[in-house]
Amino acid sequence: MRKTLLAANWKMNKTAAEAEAWLEAFYPLEAEKAAADGLVEVAVCAPFTALYPLHRGLKKKNSVVELGAQNIFWQERGAFTGEISAEMLLEFQTKYVICGHSERRVLMQESSETVSRKCGAAAKAGMVPIICVGESISVRRGGLLKQWLEAQLYESLTFWDNQQEIVLAYEPVWAIGTKSAATTEDAQEACGYIRQILRERAGDLADDIRILYGGGVTPENIGGLLICDDVDGALVGGSSLDPVGFDKIVMAAVQLKTKK
Ligand code: PGA
Repeated sequence: MRKTLLAANWKMNKTAAEAEAWLEAFYPLEAEKAAADGLVEVAVCAPFTALYPLHRGLKKKNSVVELGAQNIFWQERGAFTGEISAEMLLEFQTKYVICGHSERRVLMQESSETVSRKCGAAAKAGMVPIICVGESISVRRGGLLKQWLEAQLYESLTFWDNQQEIVLAYEPVWAIGTKSAATTEDAQEACGYIRQILRERAGDLADDIRILYGGGVTPENIGGLLICDDVDGALVGGSSLDPVGFDKIVMAAVQLKTKK
């Protein structure tokens, strides 16, 4: 049974003070209780500077919301200016680490090899990497979706030992930052491929791996995505910045899952 995961990806948004204000507003809403009842899992992948205040705030409230980071470096410590280690993230009980978001792959030229090292370091340290894969519009139009996902997945998972917990996120680049997500059919097709590829690599363990959909998720379209057999949650960017909007997304997932 794969527990639905709704993960906020704040990207480069929110100062420490704004993160605290978000938590103050989100905590009393319905999502916290639903997560505490075990119906879904909720995580916030925040900028590094917001991790400590969020950790402190979540602990004080006894919240079940999990923390996530948006990047990690694979070395334990040393002369790596500007990078962050697993130990530094674990200090604040960071559970998840986004690895290989398309914005990093494109803007920071992160290769799948780099992504695989990050994924391996996070998993080895006991965190759960959220590994992002997804195609550009030209790849999709060229009919190369399956090959693209296959290559990205294989190359990004080199350092994964098949047993460590990981989460995949299918994020079509063309849907990110829009308000229109992939259709139900497109999301299922891609997430179905991803599970098939994971099965080739890890056998039946693939059935335990959660695959999220990300890109243009809103409270209005989340329902159409979560009905897919192979979509086990969402990675939510823009719509997670507003606590009320993110609460609506979590509660739409709760309603759907309790009906299923
Ligand atoms: P979006 O971003 O929800 O703003 O499209 C999702 C993501 O890039 O993770």
